[in-house]
Amino acid sequence: MSILSRKRILLGVTGSIAAFKAADLASKLTQSGTEVDVILTNAGEKFVTPLTFQSVTGRRAFTDKDLWGDEAHVLHVDLGKKADLLVIAPCTANTIAKMAHGISDSLLTVTALASTCPIVIAPAMDGGMFDHPATRENLKTLQTRGALVAGPAAGHLASGLSGVGRMIEPMDILGHVRVALGKNGKLAGKKVIVTAGGTQEAIDPVRVITNHSSGKQGYALAQAALDEGAEVTLITTPTGLNPPIGARVVRVKSAQDMLDALMNESADALVMAAAAADFRPKDTAKDKLKKRDGIPQIQLEAAPDILKTVASPGGVAKRFRIMVGFAAESRDLLQNASEKLKSKGLDFIAANDISADDAGFAVETNRITLLFADGARENLPLMSKAEAAEKIIAHIARLLE
Ligand code: CTP
Repeated sequence: MSILSRKRILLGVTGSIAAFKAADLASKLTQSGTEVDVILTNAGEKFVTPLTFQSVTGRRAFTDKDLWGDEAHVLHVDLGKKADLLVIAPCTANTIAKMAHGISDSLLTVTALASTCPIVIAPAMDGGMFDHPATRENLKTLQTRGALVAGPAAGHLASGLSGVGRMIEPMDILGHVRVALGKNGKLAGKKVIVTAGGTQEAIDPVRVITNHSSGKQGYALAQAALDEGAEVTLITTPTGLNPPIGARVVRVKSAQDMLDALMNESADALVMAAAAADFRPKDTAKDKLKKRDGIPQIQLEAAPDILKTVASPGGVAKRFRIMVGFAAESRDLLQNASEKLKSKGLDFIAANDISADDAGFAVETNRITLLFADGARENLPLMSKAEAAEKIIAHIARLLE
């Protein structure tokens, strides 16, 4: 179950043209299983209507008319107290200033004052307004009080100018919301390193030897660790995927790069989800191999076994308290996985049968068996890679307890 499901999130929408993107955010949150209560300011209502939000959340959207309605004396307290998180997106310089000074002259600002939950602010304004010392100081004040400021981004602004002031994209706001919700999770204060993607072993400056790994399972693991409050480093090959918000990203290409990157790290847990090469070209041609020179004979040599190297006594043993591997197999799944579990000195291994159409590389789902060093086994049924990641991260949290 995702960190967003069964949560109650208050979405504040203030007067910026980016308000139209807030409907997308409300929709994404709702689709993730969140109950979304929207509060529009008067200026927010000039850009989008309450009906827009009611249509995507299936719930009533509140406006300043509700500030003086029948339930007004408790509405703001009720909304503020019940929420797991308040996200204000877009948040104007005006609302930021009011919140920094405890001004509560709208349903949104009075609710913000009454709430005790984490707050995420996605500023949206003109570059000059964002740069103004007043806005800077107000944002700093809110940050000091624990608010998470997400953005703004650089780009085209409503004024026609370019600069820093654009609200960040809803998908990225969602990432910040997850970080704020996960803060006190089971892995709070713990460091997790995840490797992801298929490595690229260069033949020449143009060509590489790689594999079908998409990186999806690794990225899902990084997100699941963030959802539990871990400090996450994602060591990834080029995958074309967007890294989860909050992860420190180290970009690598070859198995050797990945090993070198790990030699600089230490963590509570290492999850080797990457499909690292076993073989690489013995020599990488400095210049592009030309057709006119005939079909090249490419001699291969062993690539470093990353897990074995970091687990060996001469390596960086115990830099990683828990080590988790993956075994992608097309036959003798459990036997091969069990051998890898032992030979690589792992705490547990996730074995997946890549011959199935609905599991393994590139697809959205996985069917995994977890094999533990103490002999225990757990068969996970077919599930999304996100769900499989949550299960694996839950075991890591248990082993680190
Ligand atoms: N792995 C590694 N270094 C490599 C290759 C793989 O650390 N050069 C890691 C993978 O990230 C995975 C685990 O070892 O977590 C098992 O990888 P897999 O490719 O299934 O096994 P190999 O040890 O490479 O053995 P084989 O390819 O012969 O099955």
